[in-house]
Amino acid sequence: MPDILLLHGPNLNLLGTREPGIYGACTLEEINHWALEQCNAVGARLETLQSNSECELVDRVQLAGTDGTRFIVINPAAFTHTSIALRDAFAAVGLPFIEVHLSNVHAREPFRQKSFFSDLAQAVLCGLGPRGYAAAVDAALEQSGFRDTST
Ligand code: DQA
Repeated sequence: MPDILLLHGPNLNLLGTREPGIYGACTLEEINHWALEQCNAVGARLETLQSNSECELVDRVQLAGTDGTRFIVINPAAFTHTSIALRDAFAAVGLPFIEVHLSNVHAREPFRQKSFFSDLAQAVLCGLGPRGYAAAVDAALEQSGFRDTST
């Protein structure tokens, strides 16, 4: 039972080698490690999950509705622009969440400028690279009642 659930969508397992000019050199392991440090510092439990499967992400969001999860931080990756199923899972559970993107999706191809999540999200962070995750996890901790020690 996590306090904060950090979800990563398809192809983010390839961070570090995937189009580094767009997504940078950090690996997903590093991003998860930094998030874990932030959560450990305030005694919050963090669970991370990366999946290339829409089904697995929908199932995990559904479970979050009943397993005590307080807040979700998600980079839905390409599902941002395609997945009504994952959007509906967030609408169904009603948990607060922040949408994160490494790149500035608004400065890229037109198909990346549509998100099925942004109107439900508490906040959207894009274009900050890995710092976007750190800011989102800080906000998630603060809003979940944990002390924010990062600033
Ligand atoms: C992304 C942007 C998406 O458009 C893309 O499909 C990704 C990553 C980002 O973090 O910038 O996989 O979510």
